Amino acid sequence: MLGFITGGNIAAVPALRSPHVGAALAALIAAAALWPRAAAADDDFAYGRRIFQEKAQCPYCHGWAGDGSGEPQSSGGAANLRETRLTRDQLIEVISCGVPGKAMPRFDDQAYAEKRCYNGVTEASLGQYLPPLPPGSVLQHREIEALVGFLQAKIIGRGPITRAECLEALGERAARTCSQYPETP
Ligand code: HEC
Repeated sequence: MLGFITGGNIAAVPALRSPHVGAALAALIAAAALWPRAAAADDDFAYGRRIFQEKAQCPYCHGWAGDGSGEPQSSGGAANLRETRLTRDQLIEVISCGVPGKAMPRFDDQAYAEKRCYNGVTEASLGQYLPPLPPGSVLQHREIEALVGFLQAKIIGRGPITRAECLEALGERAARTCSQYPETP
């Protein structure tokens, strides 16, 4: 909607030619332009976080904090991402290709066809060990890169979960849930 309005199309919509509506609209656009920036100011990784939490639904198995406690789906079977030792390239490969023979899905549905997985192994040769497609959405390569940026900044190596991290991830509405975590690690 805003993209449409700010895309230079205002004059094309008859009702919007009225000066009153125009002024109100200008104020609205100004407010809307400020708002997302204010909300995202303290989190450069908001885009990657949204992919983690919403689009790809990684917490379904790994938990919101990535500690592997996506009960009851994973029952602890999903890796603790906070303790992973994988490099950036390895993270991209695992997320794109999944883990053969395990529940970890392949989030890039072109990765095997384009021979980008595990030294060019094919879907056919993996057979029944081909990782499943994800329960949520598949991801574009640039989305996986943003996701890995988020993981490296906000999840990997963070140690015990703190109240501040919980509030940052889940928002003030989760204050009661977050009160179970200590103030400091
Ligand atoms: C359906 C459940 C499920 C979903 C959804 C899922 N994972 Fe996994 N993931 C697993 C399991 C199970 C493993 C452990 C595989 C194994 O035993 O090696 C794993 C392993 C991993 C690993 C490897 C960690 C290591 O140190 O070896 C990474 C990284 C990872 N997942 C990231 C993600 C990300 C990021 C998402 C979302 C894009 C995601 N996973 C979604 C189940 C899932």
